[in-house]
Amino acid sequence: MSDIEQLVAQATTEFADIDDAAALEQAKARYLGKSGSVTELLKSLGKLEPEQRKRAGAAINSAKDRIEAMLNGRREAIRLAALEAQLKAEALDVTLPGRGLPTGGLHPVTRTLERIEALFRSIGFDVADGPEIEDDFHNFTALNTPENHPARSMHDTFYLQDAPGLLLRTHTSPIQVRFMEMHKPPIRVIAPGRVYRVDSDATHSPMFHQVEGLWIDEDVSFADLKGVFTDFLRNFFEKPDLRTRFRPSFFPFTEPSAEIDMSCVFCDGNGCRVCSHTGWLEIAGSGMVHPNVLKAVGIDSEKYIGFAFGMGPDRLTMLRYGVNDLRLFFDGDLRFLSQFK
Ligand code: DAH
Repeated sequence: MSDIEQLVAQATTEFADIDDAAALEQAKARYLGKSGSVTELLKSLGKLEPEQRKRAGAAINSAKDRIEAMLNGRREAIRLAALEAQLKAEALDVTLPGRGLPTGGLHPVTRTLERIEALFRSIGFDVADGPEIEDDFHNFTALNTPENHPARSMHDTFYLQDAPGLLLRTHTSPIQVRFMEMHKPPIRVIAPGRVYRVDSDATHSPMFHQVEGLWIDEDVSFADLKGVFTDFLRNFFEKPDLRTRFRPSFFPFTEPSAEIDMSCVFCDGNGCRVCSHTGWLEIAGSGMVHPNVLKAVGIDSEKYIGFAFGMGPDRLTMLRYGVNDLRLFFDGDLRFLSQFK
């Protein structure tokens, strides 16, 4: 075998053993590089006679082409093997179930508020809201609450230090006033929202929720209040047998005023720990809107009359879901909240 053919044979076995791209390039340099064996042979052509040079040149070039072709083949094989290995290593099991995105959920109190809104909308009530930073007039004065009323005390209300006359509303009743300032009777509206008082323990939070209700027309009676509110509670708790009782009470903005109790939803009125063995749960304040409140917003109190109520949706949520500590609603602990998804 000629030197050239031997070189080709040698390259063939050498390349076949290499399965690494960098090593292959080094091997290539040994044959085709600047001082590689094929290059050296080509350089030596100059010393030959023209006739010999032609033949030897053709043979060397053919060898060079074959070595190059082999190289390319090997290069491609190595590339494919690497790709194959990578695909194997990064294999995806497309039959695995997806991880999925965790979905959020509504806060339990928000769910209650939406439920209350839906129930009142279904009997023709509007839903309104108002500012959480209120002025003295809407929170107290227009609601017939005199200067010396204890609710106005610094101990009960958050006042804004640098804004005299402004405070965090202590109830949603100011929305009654704002709504009546903007609308003429007949008025049927509920107003849910956050309210603030200086109070904090297992059943009181400095921020909590209220829903105000107001119905003003020419002939709205206390019987309407009883009917609307009892019906609402029965629908809210899905208890058609739920009973209510109205206890005389006092609020400056209603006359007469009443506390509304409902039969305990846990024991159906038989007495249990939740209702302190009374069979009743206190659920709202209410009454017939005081003529002074109507006067404060320019509504003719000789012609119009109506009822109002204010209830605590946080407490309704606790009763509906059987939660015994109000603070759980406002701690933001997902272990608690995610149970309501
Ligand atoms: N605003 C009262 C409170 O926070 C609740 C209330 C009682 C609202 C009687 C009313 C009502 O509209 O008529 O204690």
